Amino acid sequence: MKLTTRQFWLMGVVLLLSNLNATATFEPISTSIAVGMAAVLTGFLATYQNVFYYFQECCRAEWISFNKTGLEVDLDRRLFGQHVVSRVVLNAITGFKNNKNPKKPLVLSLHGGTGTGKNFVSHLIAENIYKNGMDSSFIHQFVATAHFPHQSQIENYKSQLQHWIKGNVTNCPQSMFIFDEMDKMHPGLIDCIKPYLDYYEKLDGVSYRQAIFIFLSNSGGENIMQVALDFWRAGRGREEIELKHLETALSLSVFNNKQSGFWHTSLIDKNLVDFFIPFLPLEYKHLVQCGMAEMAAKGLEPNYNLSDQVARDMIFFPKSEKIFSVKGCKTISSKLDLYRDHA
Ligand SMILES: Nc1ncnc2c1ncn2[C@@H]1O[C@H](COP(=O)(O)OP(=O)(O)OP(=O)(O)O)[C@@H](O)[C@H]1O
Ligand SMILES: *[C@@H]1O[C@H](CO)[C@@H](O)[C@H](O)[C@H]1NC(C)=O
Ligand SMILES: *[C@@H]1O[C@H](CO)[C@@H](O)[C@H](O)[C@H]1NC(C)=O
Ligand SMILES: *[C@@H]1O[C@H](CO)[C@@H](O)[C@H](O)[C@H]1NC(C)=O
Repeated sequence: MKLTTRQFWLMGVVLLLSNLNATATFEPISTSIAVGMAAVLTGFLATYQNVFYYFQECCRAEWISFNKTGLEVDLDRRLFGQHVVSRVVLNAITGFKNNKNPKKPLVLSLHGGTGTGKNFVSHLIAENIYKNGMDSSFIHQFVATAHFPHQSQIENYKSQLQHWIKGNVTNCPQSMFIFDEMDKMHPGLIDCIKPYLDYYEKLDGVSYRQAIFIFLSNSGGENIMQVALDFWRAGRGREEIELKHLETALSLSVFNNKQSGFWHTSLIDKNLVDFFIPFLPLEYKHLVQCGMAEMAAKGLEPNYNLSDQVARDMIFFPKSEKIFSVKGCKTISSKLDLYRDHA
């Protein structure tokens, strides 16, 4: 007979309890007490593993499970001015997570000007998949200029990166990799991650099909801005902008500049990227929203006037119309502190 952990516990407790009577009559320690203790101990050891998993993050459903409602609510309430992004991201993640047998890892490429929410969206995704959010040990973030700064070290970086990706996916198939400043990444490094993004069932015995890769870059930002500006000048609402209007802005033909040309062509060519996600430039009203959200996050009383003042003092472009924030919502947080101190 195979006893479950719970049966072991129960047996131990029953044996111990039944011996309380016996000890009450001052009998010597009976063997049944020993047996009872042993059972409790065995039960404890078997349970220990589960208790351990409860406190220590591990690659199991207790720690990794997608909350679709959570992501939907977060994209809706916490992300400002990015209706195209919200829609595409929700569909992409939901489709991938609902697929029991994905044919390749999910690869998202996030494009747009600085401070428009690319890192922020990766964090929202992380928070709704991993219980520990960005602190999860299954999320790995690489910043091109910080992690791979030296041209001369490129061969080292390559083997290190491949080693890391393989090691981490072996540890946990549902790992997430975020590559920031993709447009500044050395072509050799891009080449070395390509195999992991592809349709292989297994690569050296490891399957990468449950992993998520997110690439962030400013490439295409100028073109996206131009589309948004054209809409504005034509008197059309921002909300009317759809993904199809931005597709050309992210298409191959416009990526032939030297800066970001390589990674784009090499990834697009092979259809390794599943979704290109364009971030629109942010307007004044979005900066005010960012300011209010920032105050709430800092536990401060929301102060519309302060947020308004901070937003007004940001720099906008184009020079003539001053519609879009040059730095998006970046620096709003630090400016709030500054203005508050001088209030
Ligand atoms: N669309 C947005 N909605 C809500 N908050 C935003 C948005 N864009 C930026 N923010 C806020 O501004 C901060 C900086 O934005 P984030 O780091 O996501 O920019 P980014 O697009 O990754 O910029 P970069 O290209 O410079 O890395 C975020 O932490 C977030 O608080
Ligand atoms: C999913 O997110 C929603 C909205 O944030 C939250 O109410 C709910 O408790 C979450 N579900 C789980 C299982 O964490
Ligand atoms: C996982 O990646 C991290 C870098 O984010 C690295 O330091 C670590 O060694 C990797 N783990 C394995 C098992 O390769
Ligand atoms: C905001 O500014 C308006 C007009 O300048 C003023 O009447 C109002 O009292 C201010 N509110 C706060 C909370 O400072």
